[in-house]
Amino acid sequence: MTRRSAGDSWDPASHVGATATMVAVYRALASQGPDPLVNDPLADPLVRAVGLEQFVRMLDGEITFDDDPLLCRGAANELIAVRTRFFDDFFTEATDAGVRQAVILASGLDTRAYRLRWPDDMVVYEIDQPRVIEFKTWTLAEHGAVPTADRRPIGIDLRNDWPAALRQHGFDVNQPTAWIAEGLLIYLPPDDQDRLFDSIAALSAPTSQVATEHFPDPALVSGEHAQQLSARWNRMGLDLNLSELIYSGERRTVMEYLTTHGWRLTARTIKELYAHNGFEFPDDEMAAVLGEMSFVAATLG
Ligand SMILES: C[S@@+](CC[C@H](N)C(=O)[O-])C[C@H]1O[C@@H](n2cnc3c(N)ncnc32)[C@H](O)[C@@H]1O
Repeated sequence: MTRRSAGDSWDPASHVGATATMVAVYRALASQGPDPLVNDPLADPLVRAVGLEQFVRMLDGEITFDDDPLLCRGAANELIAVRTRFFDDFFTEATDAGVRQAVILASGLDTRAYRLRWPDDMVVYEIDQPRVIEFKTWTLAEHGAVPTADRRPIGIDLRNDWPAALRQHGFDVNQPTAWIAEGLLIYLPPDDQDRLFDSIAALSAPTSQVATEHFPDPALVSGEHAQQLSARWNRMGLDLNLSELIYSGERRTVMEYLTTHGWRLTARTIKELYAHNGFEFPDDEMAAVLGEMSFVAATLG
């Protein structure tokens, strides 16, 4: 089913890159209106600059998923708000604790390096495929956006030797780091997922932390659900087939891997985070697919 191959590449309008734009669409939608759930003003111009017609029509309210309990605007806005706030808070807590080096793995169209209030001496590395990194850097510069930290973009595939590239860009292995991998893992082959965490561990000074999502049954997301989700998108005219973009099959869960490799975990279930944000977790199809999902933060040692 997968159309993935070693060395495949993309920009934000194509292949795996389009998933970064899809997430940015949801952040842009959740940022609209008088009482927005997310504050990401750069998501909208980024999506428009990518130029995929169906995504722009979503921003303009010409394509809605109102009849769909999983994709309708209210549900999607709450889900993206919960996710965005978790990773925002992770960085805020890390910098409050003195961390001055952050790495956003698979940064896509994430604008945290431009929208979060970082300490003055903060360095934020962003890693994604070269054309994704170039697109965002160039588009935001054209838009007049200025990073709020020392932003160091690195265009490299995460299946390649990204630790070497990170060090070449000035990464300091002796300083604690806050890492995030948001919406990434299903797009990596299972072995590369394990290797990613091994590399993070090897580069992490004491008190470094990593945050990511955990699915107790990754197959639930990658299997039938991916097909159903893609079918719904296709019905709305979106030409995006998630099943072709992810690596399905057996993989170790994040919690199992991290706990057996020396990391101490704290996990918040999605239901806890919904409640924490004042939302009610829906008792519907979303519960069946995402109900067991957690967001984890882990410290080495
Ligand atoms: C669903 S998007 C999430 C983007 C971003 N973290 C966010 O939450 O908005 C998945 C991202 O993973 C990146 N990605 C997937 N596999 C990758 C790889 N092998 N190397 C570099 N980036 C990769 C894609 O380019 C894309 O930006």
